[in-house]
Amino acid sequence: MLITNIKALVGVHPKEKLFLRGSELNQLPILENAWLLLADGLIKDFGLMSEMPSHISNLKSQISAEGRFVFPSWCDSHTHIVFAAPREEEFALKIAGKTYEEIAAAGGGILNSANKLQKATEDELFESASIRLNDMIKKGTGALEIKSGYGLTVESELKMLRVIKRLKAAFPIPIKTTLLAAHAYPTEFKNNHQGYIDLIINELLPKVAEQGLGDYIDVFCEKGFFSNEETAQILTAASNYGLKPKIHANQLSSSGAVQTGISHQAVSVDHLEETDDEVLRALSNSNTIATLLPSCSFYINIPFANAKGLIESNAIVALASDYNPGSTPSGNMNFVVSLGCIKLKMTPEQAINAATINGAAAMELSEEVGSIAIGKKANLFITRPMSSLAYLPYSFGQSQVETVILNGEIYNG
Ligand code: NIG
Ligand code: FE
Repeated sequence: MLITNIKALVGVHPKEKLFLRGSELNQLPILENAWLLLADGLIKDFGLMSEMPSHISNLKSQISAEGRFVFPSWCDSHTHIVFAAPREEEFALKIAGKTYEEIAAAGGGILNSANKLQKATEDELFESASIRLNDMIKKGTGALEIKSGYGLTVESELKMLRVIKRLKAAFPIPIKTTLLAAHAYPTEFKNNHQGYIDLIINELLPKVAEQGLGDYIDVFCEKGFFSNEETAQILTAASNYGLKPKIHANQLSSSGAVQTGISHQAVSVDHLEETDDEVLRALSNSNTIATLLPSCSFYINIPFANAKGLIESNAIVALASDYNPGSTPSGNMNFVVSLGCIKLKMTPEQAINAATINGAAAMELSEEVGSIAIGKKANLFITRPMSSLAYLPYSFGQSQVETVILNGEIYNG
């Protein structure tokens, strides 16, 4: 397939660039008035219209993208899209002034979702997650991470992971799987934390490894959830099975979670709404990626992470959706990028880089996706006609994505 007359081909980073750190995020290389050739599911070549070789211009399968931008697909490195039911009942409580912690303490929150998930069949979970994923793909997402964490029993966590495995087989995008059994203490372990941790370590982890059901380990390291010591125990055990950490850190309080993640070589520490100076220092020049989730701040009315401080500290900053039924009932990465600009004060270039190449890096997928480079997967989208790059985040709440291309083929979903 050949795409011609592209107004701007966005994110043509050198192929060897696998992530962008600090001020490198300012650089979003763009080719104006370009062509792009896709073959065998990959990006084969690209260049300027004025220099297009004649043998290429005769190709049969052509799309003219006049007035339109071509972007590498969004790489959403943090989601919880397998769940049994939405939680609108909490929406009303939230509007009435209850905080996320208060709703959770009153039996809502993660335990509420776990109750429902335990009763749902694998087929039901697969069907509802498929609808969500299809919507996300149509809005430009072309690589994804999905977490367990609403099972909270050995059997139900494995059930969630099997659903994710089915999603991987059914959808044409790369998907990484994260075991988040340490998302909340089930009621029966409320006063026996070690009992639940032992269950994760001795019963669940060996099965996940044996059945090849996980790529990463996650822990909700937070006051009232898992302490730093409890988190460290789980991360250490998981590393024996080759599961690297991607952890929920500093969402509601500054508790040392970021430092715990870094000391266990976490691929990413996610959330960071409580970005104090120690967090900035810890992530400065670190290889652990700072993944920010501004839709969560927006929805549950908590502070927005200090993206500018992190970028100034030379951290690697990524943006992701956090799509889940409690804190972020949306997987629209276009809105995430808008919030990155409007609320995190990132420039459009920084936000787009954070949602593409750095998101790919947060899933260790940036050799495959996240930028327009020869040999990478042809996962991209063509926008509607747009006046400028900034129009995409500027037109918040909308999607400028007109045509989605995955593995070199138009996705009709
Ligand atoms: O990333 N904070 C922990 N986990 C999710 C929310 C889970 C839920 O409320 O269901 C998050 O915000
Ligand atoms: Fe999350």
